Amino acid sequence: MQELKIENLVKRYPGRDQVVAVNHVDVDVQAGEMLVLLGPSGCGKTTLLRCVAGLEDAQEGRIVLEGKPVFDSATGLNQPTHLRDIGMVFQNYSLWPHMTVQRNVEYPLRARGIGGAERAKRALEVLDVVQCGHLTDRYPAMLSGGQQQRIALARALAPRPKVMLLDEPLSNLDALLRVELRTHLRAIHRELGFTGIYVTHDQLEAFNLGTRVAVMNAGRIEQLDSASTVYERPATDYVARFLGIRNVFELRPEGGGWSSDAGRLEGDLGLLERHGTGSLQLFLRPQALRLHVPGAPIPQAGHLSLAGGRIVESLYSGSEVDTVLRVGEVTLYASTPVGSGQFKPGDPVTVSFESRSALLYVDGKLARS
Ligand SMILES: Nc1ncnc2c1ncn2[C@@H]1O[C@H](COP(=O)(O)OP(=O)(O)O)[C@@H](O)[C@H]1O
Ligand SMILES: [Mg+2]
Repeated sequence: MQELKIENLVKRYPGRDQVVAVNHVDVDVQAGEMLVLLGPSGCGKTTLLRCVAGLEDAQEGRIVLEGKPVFDSATGLNQPTHLRDIGMVFQNYSLWPHMTVQRNVEYPLRARGIGGAERAKRALEVLDVVQCGHLTDRYPAMLSGGQQQRIALARALAPRPKVMLLDEPLSNLDALLRVELRTHLRAIHRELGFTGIYVTHDQLEAFNLGTRVAVMNAGRIEQLDSASTVYERPATDYVARFLGIRNVFELRPEGGGWSSDAGRLEGDLGLLERHGTGSLQLFLRPQALRLHVPGAPIPQAGHLSLAGGRIVESLYSGSEVDTVLRVGEVTLYASTPVGSGQFKPGDPVTVSFESRSALLYVDGKLARS
């Protein structure tokens, strides 16, 4: 069942440069799903969320909540925020400073006309869910950042909204607390089963929390897939770059083979030949690269290699050795298991990789391998 449907949504901010913050977005969010919007700062995540909440007015499109339109540019329908069955949590905790924790959490229940005893009962229930039942009489200033964010979450959950919107709720917390709260949020989502949209620029957070992940680029959704598909098969070179896949070869046909700024690729060129038209880019994760002493045997079938490299730096990181090297004009990053032979800065090196570990993009789109 679809809890939330966003159709062809467009939001432009007026001004000289007319930013199109949300550019023809279509998304269906299923009941109980946590959809993560992932993308760099400025790609339109917050604007999209605010349109769903009714805090921004879009110019085009439709938003349907539980089968009922709440926004429709064609008919002029635009339901105000308080009539949409939505809970929100933002990056800054935004608790009322002059109210105790309990009153903060009761606030949205009071606004819905829920009476005293029932209000208190529900506030305590939800405070227990976020493990803050012992903080009812405190004021926000007497709480840590992590506690304030849990209270903000409890306040949003208290009216049991159909849809929860979470905009980088963990971004202001320190690293350890983020991990803890992320785990806890995952458990709360499983326990309460609400439908959520979660905004983040952090891919690990997205992969941990997202039932599905939508990667955004300049107001558009570039890829919408399960976390593992986004990780293993980034649909475009933009997504691959955003995920931090740092080894990139721009390839051009040359003398019957393939050349790049890192030199000529040798070995099994089948992958490239099958897709040999258009602009080709090969992306490789650091773990995909193997390093060899020049002249050492290199596996042939299904492998590609580049000769003439030089080690720039080799860093022992405990479980792996992280090596930076230059091949031609290109800087490469290799992560190899400890014990597979360590190189010193200045050493000559040949690089190889399995062609099936490479992501090939033709005109920016992932090619089938
Ligand atoms: N109130 C506003 N007025 C004008 N432009 C805005 C406003 N809010 C956001 N923008 C612009 O819209 C784009 C998307 O912003 P935003 O939705 O905040 O992105 P994100 O949350 O992904 O960082 C950016 O180019 C931003 O500068
Ligand atoms: Mg934002």
